[in-house]
Amino acid sequence: MKKIAILFSGSGTNLENLFEKLHLKEFDGLKIEVVATICNNPKAGGIEKSKRYGVEPIIINHKDFNSREEFDEELVASIKRSGADLVVLAGFMRFLTQVFTKNVKAINLHPSLLPLFKGGHAIEESYCSNMKVGGITVHFVNEELDGGTIIAQKCFQKEKDMSLEEYEKTIHSLEYKLLPKVVVEVLSK
Ligand code: GAR
Repeated sequence: MKKIAILFSGSGTNLENLFEKLHLKEFDGLKIEVVATICNNPKAGGIEKSKRYGVEPIIINHKDFNSREEFDEELVASIKRSGADLVVLAGFMRFLTQVFTKNVKAINLHPSLLPLFKGGHAIEESYCSNMKVGGITVHFVNEELDGGTIIAQKCFQKEKDMSLEEYEKTIHSLEYKLLPKVVVEVLSK
């Protein structure tokens, strides 16, 4: 059995998708369990979603800490307590320090073709750019924001009259396919 922890900050549709596709499922003899979900935003929609799968989210509000390092220490402590083999950042919108990156093996989902459009506005920025394709990336987390080794990417053609909503929908549908696949791959190694 391999254990994962999911970190999220918002609506949690990727979290829900990971529960649906991976939780207590088996892949070539590899069984996966979501042992913890951790959220920094007490108002996040993903909280209810996690509860629906029987996992009570751990809320660690970054506003309760004096520094990024102290917040990360609490994150790391919770992750260690959960026994997770791998941490999956699924819409977790916090900059992480070395306190986290040196102690935890984590992958991050990002809604652009990295190294382009790093940061919290990747969808809008890539949509407004003159690029003919959009895409997504899953990468290992290191101390550089959205900068760790790339594991997998998917891209799509930006249609001429595509609205921002359609663009975003396309990104999410790719995310729902790619992220679970990468989690299985990383855990299988
Ligand atoms: C996803 O599109 C993910 O790629 C993005 O946040 C969204 C979360 O949606 N992550 C980042 O922008 C990280 N910098 P969700 O809460 O519905 O899964």
